[in-house]
Amino acid sequence: MAETVALGVSSSVSIYKACEVLRGFQKNGLEVRVLMTRNASRMVAPLLFSALARTQTVVDPFAEESGGSIAHIELAREISLFCVAPATANVIAKMARGVADDFLTTFYLAVDAPVLVAPAMNEAMFLHPRTQANIRALKSAGVEFVEPGRGYLACRAEGWGRLADPEAIVAAGMALVRRSRSLAGKRVLISAGPTREYLDPVRFLSNRSSGKMGFALAAEALSRSAEVTLVAGPTALLPPFRAEFVPVETGAEMEAAVGSRAKDADIVIMAAAVCDFRFRETAGRKLKKGEFDGRVELAAAPDILAGLGRAKRSDAVLVGFAAETDRVEDNARAKLRAKNLDLIVANDVAAKGVGFDAEDNQVVMIDADGRAVRTERLSKREIGRLILDEVEAILGRKSR
Ligand code: CTP
Repeated sequence: MAETVALGVSSSVSIYKACEVLRGFQKNGLEVRVLMTRNASRMVAPLLFSALARTQTVVDPFAEESGGSIAHIELAREISLFCVAPATANVIAKMARGVADDFLTTFYLAVDAPVLVAPAMNEAMFLHPRTQANIRALKSAGVEFVEPGRGYLACRAEGWGRLADPEAIVAAGMALVRRSRSLAGKRVLISAGPTREYLDPVRFLSNRSSGKMGFALAAEALSRSAEVTLVAGPTALLPPFRAEFVPVETGAEMEAAVGSRAKDADIVIMAAAVCDFRFRETAGRKLKKGEFDGRVELAAAPDILAGLGRAKRSDAVLVGFAAETDRVEDNARAKLRAKNLDLIVANDVAAKGVGFDAEDNQVVMIDADGRAVRTERLSKREIGRLILDEVEAILGRKSR
């Protein structure tokens, strides 16, 4: 069966260009299913899109008999891309907030394929801080955009907000369709979050890791059709849909969970902030204040990543992280060599707003040939995308 793209069409004067977008996807061998907002269906009859796509355009499945909306929502799981073109300020705002008051926006919440948005609106609406904030929110959740250009707008003025050219939208969409299968058949093992080392049954040593970077990597790997296992220390995050989820607490538990699965993995990414120390002795019952003399003895915990590096298969890709406060690149290069890694992702944990327990990250990635790639400050999901792009490049070089 041909791969399918769902094309969401909302009510902009540039709606006529959606026909060319539709045809562009068809020329690339994709089936197209069109979803229109009600306002869009007032500008152009859905029949035009049904005729071009040779499938029925969906406007309001809630009005259909016999469970139309459920059947159409199932489509959200089967598609390789959800492309919204043109996307109005209103649709973008609703997507950013998770408002689901019509079929197009309801459908969006059920999609786990890549999502591409091509905005079209007048310049004032496009440049409005609310619209820009909504676009940023969607980008940080992994949605990609084809930026509108400058040109003659329906309001009879030149300005930003003109729908990108259909060829540019189709090209961006096809790149996402390819990426949505780029790790098909690959097993990806990711560790995330902190570990805990117990002093007694209620007290532990841990760190500020939120798990967000590892969970974002898992979401990104899933969107590329990988088989994902996520081994996570205690976090406040929801397990990703469709991944094997292995919750652990201590470093020893993480080592056992990761170690037994690493042999079969094509890609292993240690994003967890494993405690470097454990208590030399752990009490079996809660210690009373009175019995505590103020001293605890710590011992080094096993370095899981170093163990994985020693046992690494030559065709597998091993990625580590380096949390540094100074001499970030030098320290990272030393860790890459010492732990036999294919890629190290280093971040400056002393910098404000990035790294530990933050929404954003800014990293430098160094591969085994010493090549360094520096990113700007981006959401962890976007950083996850850049990391997996590097990993895929390394995997490609290894299979040559
Ligand atoms: N790591 C691990 N097991 C440990 C400690 C760390 O597997 N006991 C992994 C982390 O998941 C990360 C990488 O090693 O991918 C780097 O961790 P980091 O704490 O930055 O560096 P260390 O190697 O522990 O070195 P140092 O504390 O000296 O900076």
